[in-house]
Parts: sequence; C-alpha cells; structure tokens
Amino acid sequence: MNTTTNQPKIVLVTGGSRGIGKSIALNAAKRGLDVILTYNNNQEHGEAVVTEIKNIGRKAVALKLDTANMASVMEFGNIIKDVLHKEWHRDQLDYLVNNAGIAQRSLIKDTTEEIFDHLVNVNFKGVFFLTQQLMPLIADGGQIINISSGLARFAFPGTAVYGALKAGIEALTRYFAKEYADRKIRVNTVAPGAIDTEFGGGKGDEAHRQQIASQTALGRLGNAEDIGLFIASMLSDDSRFVNAQRIEIGGGIMI
Ligand SMILES: NC(=O)c1ccc[n+]([C@@H]2O[C@H](COP(=O)([O-])OP(=O)(O)OC[C@H]3O[C@@H](n4cnc5c(N)ncnc54)[C@H](OP(=O)(O)O)[C@@H]3O)[C@@H](O)[C@H]2O)c1
Repeated sequence: MNTTTNQPKIVLVTGGSRGIGKSIALNAAKRGLDVILTYNNNQEHGEAVVTEIKNIGRKAVALKLDTANMASVMEFGNIIKDVLHKEWHRDQLDYLVNNAGIAQRSLIKDTTEEIFDHLVNVNFKGVFFLTQQLMPLIADGGQIINISSGLARFAFPGTAVYGALKAGIEALTRYFAKEYADRKIRVNTVAPGAIDTEFGGGKGDEAHRQQIASQTALGRLGNAEDIGLFIASMLSDDSRFVNAQRIEIGGGIMI
C-alpha cells in the first residue's frame, strides 16, 4: 500500500532524541505528522520523545542508528521497511530530515586523520548512504531536509572540517534534488546559526555566548525551538515549490 492523501504523513528524523532533532520531531507531531526518530547513544531520551509524541496524539517509534557505522546505515532501509509495515501498514514515508550530526573542535594544525574520518563518517558519508538507501522508501512528492550549518558560509577557527562537510551537504542537496526530480521529491537544506543545545559540548561560558550574540543581528543565540518550529512548517505542501534551496536560520549571524 502506498501513501495516500488521507493518511497521516510520516517523517523520519535522525538524531531526534535531543536538541534540534527533538524539537523537529515534537513540532512535526503537533502539526499532525507521525514520527520515526533515531537515537545513537541515548535510547532513554529517544523513548522519552516517543512518549511526548504519543501524548500529543500521534504515532511514534524510536530506533537506534549510528550514521558512522556503515553496516547499520546499509541495513537501516530494511529496518524502516519492517517498521512501516508493522506500525503503519505502509510501504513508504513522506519526509526525511537528516539532522544527526557531531562537532569535534580542532584547529587545522591539530586535526588528526582519526578526527577527520569520524567527522566525515557521521556528518557526510553516513548521510549520503543513508539517504541513498532510503530513497525507495520516500514517497513520490515527498521531501528531504538536510541540516547544514552557518559554518558552511562563514569560518570560526576549529571548525574547518565540520564546516567544509556541511558545505558538501549543501552541494549534495542540489544533486539529490536533480537526480530525484523525476519523482518530484524536493530536497532542501536548513542551516542553523549558533543554537543553544549540547552540541559539541555546548556554547561555552557567558563571555563566549555574549560574543556570538553580539555577532547576530537579532542579538541572541538561537534555541532548538527556533529551528524545530520552522522545519516542521516546511514539512507540508505549504513549501511545495521550495526545492534545492539553502535556508539559514540564525537570526542574522555574521552578516
Ligand atoms: N547546535 C548548533 O549550534 C548547530 C548549528 C548548526 C548546525 N547544527 C546541526 O544541527 C544538527 C543537530 O544538532 P544539535 O545541536 O541538536 O546536536 P545535539 O543536541 O548534540 O544532538 C545530536 C543528535 O544527533 C544524534 N547523534 C550523534 N551522533 C550520532 C551518530 N553517530 N549517529 C546517529 N545519530 C547521532 C544524537 O543522538 P544520541 O544523543 O542518542 O547519541 C542526538 O540525537 C547537527 O547536524 C548539527 O551539525 C547545530
């Protein structure tokens, strides 16, 4: 059975157990979507989000996924297929949000091959192959949103590899939009600015936070809800002609 218009739409949010992904998952549920979310190390956080979504009145499932583990990435399509059949009696989902990611601060002179490879595996290689594997499971007319970063546009010392990989994600977004245009699958990038989550150990001491706020036109750091609310609003036909775009949500950081 394929997706029909009168069924609830289903979104898969990677890294939906905490931070930005959690906010995307909860706000999507508030807008009437069912949710499959993934966690990596924090199963209990993933299950807590599932409980919150069920309390909103939507269906949700939490699954383990490590985007750095190629065996787990290549197997994930089959896992999703089974979950869709079992929980929704469906063959396909409607939206994919590639949100899971890591930061590991390191100046260029200090960056080892190990740090480099781990950043590549989680933030780029895993995203590419996960999306490749999931394409047959995304309904025609669906949408993929890849999470990039303001750091793909501007440079902060210590984030060279991360920023370059996010720039790569933005290029991939356009390629996926091109190659899957025949199926009318839209592919967009959302690039958050400085968002106050636990990402990479958090945003540091008050002085550092003030410095970021002073470089942001709206005068503050972002929070997860700033991103989750916007992305959830994109997961509908209201954004039906938005395709292959990069949308930065950063309050006007580094302009
Ligand atoms: N926060 C910012 O300032 C900021 C700015 C720009 C872009 N971003 C991007 O926004 C996205 C989410 O960031 P966030 O701030 O919400 O981070 P976060 O609070 O650290 O949450 C990261 C999420 O990703 C999951 N995750 C971590 N490593 C993973 C792996 N190897 N495989 C699969 N999942 C993994 C985590 O799951 P577990 O907890 O279960 O391990 C968690 O759900 C990332 O792509 C990040 O690059 C963040």
